[in-house]
Amino acid sequence: MRDRTRARELADEFNRKGNPTGWFEALYREAEEGKSTVPWLDYHPTPHLVGFWMLHPQQTAGKSALVVGSGGGDDAEQLAAWGFRTTAFDISETAIRSTRKRFPNSAVDYHIANLLDPPTPWRGQFDFVFEANTLQVLRAALRRQATKNIAAFLRPGGLLLVIARSREPSDPEGQMPWPLTRAEISAFAVLGLEELLFDILPDVEEPEVRRFRVLFRLPQT
Ligand SMILES: C[S@@+](CC[C@H](N)C(=O)[O-])C[C@H]1O[C@@H](n2cnc3c(N)ncnc32)[C@H](O)[C@@H]1O
Repeated sequence: MRDRTRARELADEFNRKGNPTGWFEALYREAEEGKSTVPWLDYHPTPHLVGFWMLHPQQTAGKSALVVGSGGGDDAEQLAAWGFRTTAFDISETAIRSTRKRFPNSAVDYHIANLLDPPTPWRGQFDFVFEANTLQVLRAALRRQATKNIAAFLRPGGLLLVIARSREPSDPEGQMPWPLTRAEISAFAVLGLEELLFDILPDVEEPEVRRFRVLFRLPQT
């Protein structure tokens, strides 16, 4: 089982201080100093992304992709290897610096950026947007803005693939990572995206985790 103790302590501490996104950089920095670990770093592409691609390979020639909350960079590197012109961003400066160091010859354009206030030139620019497990580490109060900003990255006809832990509305929110309800995932549809595929998939993790894997498209106008 992944040790999330320190990540949860930092999340609580920064949330109490009114800085709900400050703990990511603090955690990556502690990990770099060997004082703690980043529980989501497993140094391979997200299995549910690879599984999606095996079932639904996409045309990538001349197309652009954006990876939200790129963490270790493995998903961005995978999308670039599949042929997308790929941009990826994370709020943590340390995460981006160590990703660039891990992949010195990368074709990916990595940026330090905040999903809650993303660079304006990215609006409406991407053919494929990939978001895995970032919404669930943001407090519910921030998700509405985050969801809106993710949807706004798409160009008309563009696809968004979202992966997130799921819970029933009757289940307690619990500790970080805070799983999403069906309604929170459906917020993308409320913003005007079409839901093309909807899966709930089990993970090999104890205790059992089920994840949403949902594909949306921004309709052509
Ligand atoms: C749970 S990790 C998931 C990493 C990766 N997507 C994966 O699935 O392995 C969430 C990542 O999003 C980043 N992050 C959190 N809030 C963010 C924000 N507001 N803007 C950009 N990145 C953010 C964190 O630093 C972290 O690397």
